[in-house]
Amino acid sequence: MKKPALDARLRAAAAYVRQDAVFADVGTDHAYLPLFLLAEGRITRAVCSDVNEGPLAKAKEHASEYPFLSKMSFHLADGLEALSSEGLTDIAVCGMGGELIADILSRAAFVKNNDIRLILQPMSRPEQLRRYLAAEGFCIEDETFVRAAGKSYVCMLVAYSGTPYALSPFAELFGAFPNVRNDAFLSYLFEKERSLRSAAKGIEQGGGDAATQRALLSDIEKFKMINHLEVAYDGT
Ligand SMILES: C[S@@+](CC[C@H](N)C(=O)[O-])C[C@H]1O[C@@H](n2cnc3c(N)ncnc32)[C@H](O)[C@@H]1O
Repeated sequence: MKKPALDARLRAAAAYVRQDAVFADVGTDHAYLPLFLLAEGRITRAVCSDVNEGPLAKAKEHASEYPFLSKMSFHLADGLEALSSEGLTDIAVCGMGGELIADILSRAAFVKNNDIRLILQPMSRPEQLRRYLAAEGFCIEDETFVRAAGKSYVCMLVAYSGTPYALSPFAELFGAFPNVRNDAFLSYLFEKERSLRSAAKGIEQGGGDAATQRALLSDIEKFKMINHLEVAYDGT
């Protein structure tokens, strides 16, 4: 069976989708993820939504190359608006900034439901998304770091628990499942360390207070020591 090739980000997202899910892909663009899941026989129905007409037209055009149109619907919608009555079990929001993903969730009260699985893949600022999830009582059940197009990205498996909690600045930045055996995680850790060092230096050279950056750098040092990562990673 023909199926779209997914990059590592979307493969990580696909792996979190449950068998026989009623699946929504928010910001679907090319619809690769729902088409892949339909081709694999993993989902019973795919709700594809995008806020922009161009990407939604692309999704429809691409979907017409596959024999799944009867199991697909297409919605021109901002975030999860208009999707509350679709009976969704698993919802992916991939390939957007962490703040935008948090904003989309904040405008969809129906996702505060323990039966709904959220699969979130921020392209930037995952720490802002983790902070939002913790404050709103969404449990981050798992995370996978992957490399795609030469960069590290994280994909999160999330469900509502109703119990808000707080994350340390380190956990906001690196997640609750730091896996030192995963090269994608290590690259991310060392990239962040480098950018925090340069930010701290810049702030201090300008006479400012880099206490936040220095505290995080100290946590990173401790993490590296505990995990025998004393040698600076060269990022390759
Ligand atoms: C970079 S593409 C990601 C495509 C695919 N999800 C992926 O991860 O490869 C981002 C898509 O999100 C859509 N998008 C941006 N803001 C959105 C919103 N508020 N609601 C729905 N879709 C949105 C854009 O139009 C675009 O098609």
